[in-house]
Amino acid sequence: MNAIGLYIITLQNNIFSGLFVGQNLITIQHVDSTNNFLKNLLSNSKPVTEGTVIMAESQYAGRGQQQNRWHSEPGKNLTFSLLLKPVFLPVTQQFDLTRAISLGIIEALEPILGERLKIKWPNDIYYGDKKLGGMLIENLLQGALIKNAVIGIGLNINQDAFPPHVANAVSVKQILHRDYDLRFILSEICKNIEAVYLQLRSGQFDVVRKAYLERLYWLNEVKIFKANGRLFEGKIAGVQDNGLLVIDDGGQLLNFNLKEVEFINR
Ligand code: BTN
Repeated sequence: MNAIGLYIITLQNNIFSGLFVGQNLITIQHVDSTNNFLKNLLSNSKPVTEGTVIMAESQYAGRGQQQNRWHSEPGKNLTFSLLLKPVFLPVTQQFDLTRAISLGIIEALEPILGERLKIKWPNDIYYGDKKLGGMLIENLLQGALIKNAVIGIGLNINQDAFPPHVANAVSVKQILHRDYDLRFILSEICKNIEAVYLQLRSGQFDVVRKAYLERLYWLNEVKIFKANGRLFEGKIAGVQDNGLLVIDDGGQLLNFNLKEVEFINR
């Protein structure tokens, strides 16, 4: 145990089959947020190798998107952060990293959960109409390049129930009525993220963009959306290269940034 009472276990991982994602796995019992922990590690002098994963059994200040908190029952779910160094990716193309991570997660979970698994734009992991997980990507820039990407991922795996304030959540256990080994799922996710990331790194942006679009929740379905305080009917027609959502409202193609549009489930 260290001075502040945390057990930190660093493993040279020989369970994970990829080349670098997850090979350096640091498991922590209790931490504020794995994203914070990884960012602190990066600001210390020692270099941190690409692919390092920080996994926590419990987080007491887990962070979600848009300043929300991320709630997860200790020991039941996956809460981890992964370091990538996508220096080949200009900041203007950072949405391709979001695509790659979302796809890696979906492709890892598809053999278990099947085709009801979707990506809700921009990067929520959905099963049916419920949220199975999400990610918080914090890009640390050097000029116009992404020097470090801290990719925080939270996925509900073995949690039996969610408190009422955690709206719309679902876990793998609620779907399949059995527990899963967290490290097995983590290793599958690392392997699949690595495969898609390597596609990006070799310049196969179109392959990644196409695969992302194929998994998109509500793609080409007539649904209700809300923007500027107004409800309207439309269908998702695509996602621009820079990540803007494109909705066809029957007459024109409208582009939306994050927070500018809401999906209304009826
Ligand atoms: C979301 O709101 O959908 C994003 C959730 C991201 C949660 C994960 S859990 C591991 C990592 N550490 C954090 O504090 N947040 C991310």
